[in-house]
Amino acid sequence: MKAYIIKAYGDASAAELTEFSEPQLCPHDLRIEVAGMGLNPVDYKTRDGLLKAIYSPTLPIVMGNELSGVVSECGTEVKNFKVGDKIVARVEKDRLGAFAEQVCINEEVATFAPKSIPLGDAAALPLAALTAIQALRDELGASAGKHILITGGAGGVGTFAIQIAKYLGAEVTTTASPRGEALVREMGADHVIDYTKTDLADVTTKFDGVFDLIGGDTLKACFGLAKSGATVVSISGTPEPVTASKDLQAGLKLKVIFWLVSFGLRRMAAKFGVTYRYLFMHASGSELAELVQMVDDGQLKIIIDKKFDFADIAEAMAYLEAGRAKGKVIVNIDKT
Ligand SMILES: NC(=O)c1ccc[n+]([C@@H]2O[C@H](COP(=O)([O-])OP(=O)(O)OC[C@H]3O[C@@H](n4cnc5c(N)ncnc54)[C@H](OP(=O)(O)O)[C@@H]3O)[C@@H](O)[C@H]2O)c1
Repeated sequence: MKAYIIKAYGDASAAELTEFSEPQLCPHDLRIEVAGMGLNPVDYKTRDGLLKAIYSPTLPIVMGNELSGVVSECGTEVKNFKVGDKIVARVEKDRLGAFAEQVCINEEVATFAPKSIPLGDAAALPLAALTAIQALRDELGASAGKHILITGGAGGVGTFAIQIAKYLGAEVTTTASPRGEALVREMGADHVIDYTKTDLADVTTKFDGVFDLIGGDTLKACFGLAKSGATVVSISGTPEPVTASKDLQAGLKLKVIFWLVSFGLRRMAAKFGVTYRYLFMHASGSELAELVQMVDDGQLKIIIDKKFDFADIAEAMAYLEAGRAKGKVIVNIDKT
């Protein structure tokens, strides 16, 4: 089968589209004939070797974290799917493999694909939308009466995050450049801060919760914008001890490392009386099923910036890596 793999960590030249062995089916697995693949910044960060502290597989590996496709074989213990089912999944974090013609995944991370959109497009949903719902509902408790700040509203995660926060009843302020303003308003943002003109440190509104997608100085500024007692959840900052225990179920060693590397951010957050949380999202077929239902009910739109053919996956990755995507970047495998 064709697969996009890395044999060694490195820049874009470290990844190649090549022939690779088919994945092995385990008892709880579904074998999927892939129709669509969603691209995410975690793909090029993995390729660069930035995630080695938490995930260090023996190379070569097939890259890729999310997909849509059709079940072609079921493991002996599979309970909920059958051959021919159309599914979407954020694959297991320690397995990857979505950038291939064929993938094996545990049935627990899969759910039935939305019926209202093309199967290939559905690959844009799992990772970014799961991240948004886990941050906004599970960590921040976004709901009616709460005003939430989302930094970076125009990208893959941001376009879902705005819609999900609004769906949960919250008032939403987001940051975007003029390139993304119309899109974030279309997603439902109540207020937009143009990050190219306004320094977040000058913003006077205080928020009930912050979902930070940007990290760096943007994250630091967010601590001063959260109400005392509120939480700032970042997916682009530095992992902290709860990331190790709750998101990664890791042992004491990683918890201590994350305690050390996040010390400065946690101290800064404490100065403002807020809690700093770095979320590392998790795969979940059941939460994904809720998001699929929202798509089919017309409550969650999938924004696709650009769609590539599998033969052009390197170009797709470079496009995403440029950092200007509005919504999601996906790759489709043409079966015709
Ligand atoms: N921890 C986790 O579990 C997890 C999960 C998912 C994603 N992430 C991380 O979250 C981040 C966002 O992911 P994504 O998929 O949304 O990325 P993305 O689609 O590549 O985001 C691109 C968008 O970000 C906007 N942007 C860039 N700099 C900005 C700034 N300073 N302020 C506001 N907007 C800015 C760009 O808008 P303009 O072009 O208009 O500037 C562009 O539309 C990545 O770092 C990713 O690795 C982490």
